[in-house]
Amino acid sequence: MYLTDEEKRMLNGEHGEIVQKCMKVLVTLGEIYDAERMIEISSVHSPGVSYRVAGDAGLNYVKDASSQGCFKIPTTLNTVGIDTEGWKKIGFPTDFSLKQLELIDAYGKLGSIYTNTCTPYLVGSIPKFGEHVAWGESSAVAFVNSVIGARTNREGGPSALAAAVTGRVPYYGYHLDSSRKSKFLIQVEVEVKSDRDYAVLGYYAGHSCGKEVLAFDGIKKCPTMENLKALSAAVASSGAVALYHILGVTPEATTMQVIDDKVETLKFGPNEYRKTVEKFSYTGEVDFVVIGCPHCSIIEIRQAAALLKGKRIESDMWICTSRQVKTLADKMGYTKTIEDAGAQIVCDTCPVLCPTLERGYRNIITNSAKLAHYAPGLWNVKTALIETEDCIKAAITGKWRGEHWRK
Ligand code: F3S
Repeated sequence: MYLTDEEKRMLNGEHGEIVQKCMKVLVTLGEIYDAERMIEISSVHSPGVSYRVAGDAGLNYVKDASSQGCFKIPTTLNTVGIDTEGWKKIGFPTDFSLKQLELIDAYGKLGSIYTNTCTPYLVGSIPKFGEHVAWGESSAVAFVNSVIGARTNREGGPSALAAAVTGRVPYYGYHLDSSRKSKFLIQVEVEVKSDRDYAVLGYYAGHSCGKEVLAFDGIKKCPTMENLKALSAAVASSGAVALYHILGVTPEATTMQVIDDKVETLKFGPNEYRKTVEKFSYTGEVDFVVIGCPHCSIIEIRQAAALLKGKRIESDMWICTSRQVKTLADKMGYTKTIEDAGAQIVCDTCPVLCPTLERGYRNIITNSAKLAHYAPGLWNVKTALIETEDCIKAAITGKWRGEHWRK
């Protein structure tokens, strides 16, 4: 693998032990994937920062790194395992919470920005089209590759840390033009409008296409940012899709030929929609309603506040978001409206990455395909994947009776 003189100095230890260790990680990765060289990156979004995922091994690794060096590149942190300000009030275990705070502190010493969110693009980290970055968190990776048209592989905790310390990643995978062409074309034959519609479409697409790049055709109305956020999370949860194109919408689909010569075409019609929703069709008493997977934008919080205004909920309900978005929600009065109804805005974390299991829920009602997909395997709960308005009605009545089909 070709290395510049500077990269050779890093590998030889001339920039210190931690830089050398990180360069070794990246060279090994590059050799595995046949990368011909390294490429400089402009931002890192670090996954693996929940203590639930990192554990003591991760904590010790990051603490050790933070005693020896500093990040070279602006690095945002993904969702962590607690609400860093409200953990006592929510009732997260003290031992877990203190370890989590220690881990965040170690990342802080390395120079990380305390975003603690899976939607860094909502809080100021927005790469430019074509820029090379090193992001982790599957939904954020799909969003940044597809919607923004920046270029990243799906980085894990150790490779993201190595990228942040050296400012490099091996040049392979989604950094290359040749890896960004669609192997599947999905003809969308139903009208997709709501975030749930996009979650269902994405879930079907990820399930059908695995980890391949795919393209959607036939989407008539230009999707909102929230629609694309839901789509990105869904394609990356039922499959491992890190890049999709929407013909006529996403930037690469308007600037280059994104369809592979050997593309396979699939159809997403009313039957595919219905069958996908039926995978998550719990009805009955409602224990826990969650919106904000990926973390909510201020627009979603405004919508939730409007639906909850003057009401009182029967079930538990979390609205997950970043602290930056909550600050805005506080100023707008949305937080008070939501809390007056009995729901909670939970920052920095989400049910998948925090110790929710200990709360003993039997079902989770959500508008997120990602959460509906992971929750049964994590906690043996049943899930319903429904419209945001229906999530809030279910929280208010404490019941979900199923939906009348409109498609
Ligand atoms: Fe974000 Fe947690 Fe969902 S990290 S995408 S809210 S599983």
